[in-house]
Amino acid sequence: MKTYNLALIGFGGVNRALAQLIADDPSRFAALGFELRVVAITDLAFGSLVQGGGINLADVLSMPRGSSFEGLAGGSSDPRNEQVIKDSPADIIVEATFTSPVDGEPAVSHVRWALGTGKHVVTTNKGPVALFGRELTDLARRNGVTFEYEGAVMSGTPVIRLAKKLLGGLELSAVQGILNGTSNYVLGRMENGLTLDKAIAEAQALGYAEADPTADLGGSDVRLKVAILANELLGANLQPTEVETTGIQGISSDDVADALAHGKHWKLIGEARRDSDGRVAASVRPVALTADHPLAGITGATNAVSFSTDLLGAYTVSGPGAGRVETAYALISDIIAVDQFEKVANRV
Ligand code: HSE
Repeated sequence: MKTYNLALIGFGGVNRALAQLIADDPSRFAALGFELRVVAITDLAFGSLVQGGGINLADVLSMPRGSSFEGLAGGSSDPRNEQVIKDSPADIIVEATFTSPVDGEPAVSHVRWALGTGKHVVTTNKGPVALFGRELTDLARRNGVTFEYEGAVMSGTPVIRLAKKLLGGLELSAVQGILNGTSNYVLGRMENGLTLDKAIAEAQALGYAEADPTADLGGSDVRLKVAILANELLGANLQPTEVETTGIQGISSDDVADALAHGKHWKLIGEARRDSDGRVAASVRPVALTADHPLAGITGATNAVSFSTDLLGAYTVSGPGAGRVETAYALISDIIAVDQFEKVANRV
């Protein structure tokens, strides 16, 4: 059976959840025809660890925050990201670090180093995909590897690959989505009578919103996701800055109550739409949807995407858009895509 060697770049919530899934049930992937072995981990806090024979994941998962890989065989207190990505015996780089929405760093450099040295990349990071998706996909092709990023939109709920693989033969004219769980949760709680501030505090307590929820509520998180959907599914070439963006901070309790009285629900909608002249325009803005809209009934922190198609009309998918394990599943679905790529290339 084929064994893929993984390097985990970043050992925070998502990559820890992936490591836990592999450690708990190493045979989880046997039915798919491959096994996974983690041969390297890097992290700002822990440093780096490279063990070509495979790292004991139960051991590293039990290390408390604040400890270091220094002292372990192949360990260092220094993350050494560039060296590990370029030189470790990994087949697949699993990139789950911090990313700046402005320049995509440091994640985009990690992706470039990996693809440039002939390693596949799977990532949940929006920044590199939204800002440099086309360049990185080209770089992967030139190096005979693949760049996979299902978790960049709707975390573990597959929408990018689903649309590309399963909606073949349909003409997509628009993609509309509820792509930020925090803002959808907040708007729903305001329908229950909470003020915006109280609803945000609740979302933070439940772990949906970031400590600084500006990116969630101000629309910049959705803007990156809309740029990805527009470019991937509608063939656009948009930069996130070209996505006109308004968040939900201006929606008051009165606005919410007034909409409800008229049978409507405020939602933060990310949308990309092809005009009659073929141009793709994209936006993020709060919209009061009528109850018959496919996205009107999406409640709580759930995400959803509705595709406007020529033969099926609206085709809507909903599911989790956040969460450690859910996002780790996106990495697994990307690794399955890597395996399929290897099989098509007759390397497995
Ligand atoms: N903070 C995001 C949300 C999850 O609330 O949907 C990651 O994209």
